[in-house]
Amino acid sequence: MRVYAISDLHTDFRENRAALERAGLAGHRDDALIVAGDIADNESVVRETLTWLAGRFREVFFVPGNHELWVRGEDRDSMDKFHAVLRLCDQAGVRTTPARVGGVWVVPLFSWYDADFDVRGEGVADELEAWSDRYFCRWPAHVTRVDQAFLQMNEPHVRRYDAPVITFSHFVPRPELLPPTRYLRFKGLPLVAGSLGIESQIRRIQPRVHVFGHTHIPEDRVVDGVRYVQHYFRRPAADDTQSPLKLVWTDDAPPAEPLFC
Ligand SMILES: [Fe+2]
Ligand SMILES: [Fe+2]
Repeated sequence: MRVYAISDLHTDFRENRAALERAGLAGHRDDALIVAGDIADNESVVRETLTWLAGRFREVFFVPGNHELWVRGEDRDSMDKFHAVLRLCDQAGVRTTPARVGGVWVVPLFSWYDADFDVRGEGVADELEAWSDRYFCRWPAHVTRVDQAFLQMNEPHVRRYDAPVITFSHFVPRPELLPPTRYLRFKGLPLVAGSLGIESQIRRIQPRVHVFGHTHIPEDRVVDGVRYVQHYFRRPAADDTQSPLKLVWTDDAPPAEPLFC
């Protein structure tokens, strides 16, 4: 079994959808794919993209990102939409709960961000004026900490497994994985990037690999014995035939060694 990873497909951009279709992704009928959130806010686009992927892989795993939970001009709230997206995944044959694929478990972790993640205190709150989630997400009144509400849903799956594990989340699990704010174009990012609670759950599961997305900043390094990978979808040039996916696991050989930092 080979396990591939990608995040942030954003196929509501026509150019991204065309590039994904051009990539074809043939030859993966015996492989699994992790999609770490942010396909689109439009449910039809999410369904279409996941159905297309599910037809090409033996297993596809997905967690909603922030874009899936936008409720622009809708009556329902973002939590309603979250559950609607999970139902959609079910109908498309896409997994949102743990499953063993060959010799490895893949464990999806739902998440959201919280300002506590900005442990260096570098995030610039004024820059969040233009942060779309502020306007396009709406939470039920009883949800006071959105990140905790999602982490709570993971609890039944936070345990040790009987084989190596790959966990994945949309949001960033550790502050070390975010570059210092002086290198960021969007200085508000540390406030809306991740949640320390994801890392607490990772520590309890002890995976070999954790895949994440959201920041659109590539990453592949080992911290405290876990290989953290972000491989967001970068639209390839029309004549580029390289796969847009990243291989993160094979049963036959240990995963490619990333740089130790
Ligand atoms: Fe994204
Ligand atoms: Fe995101």
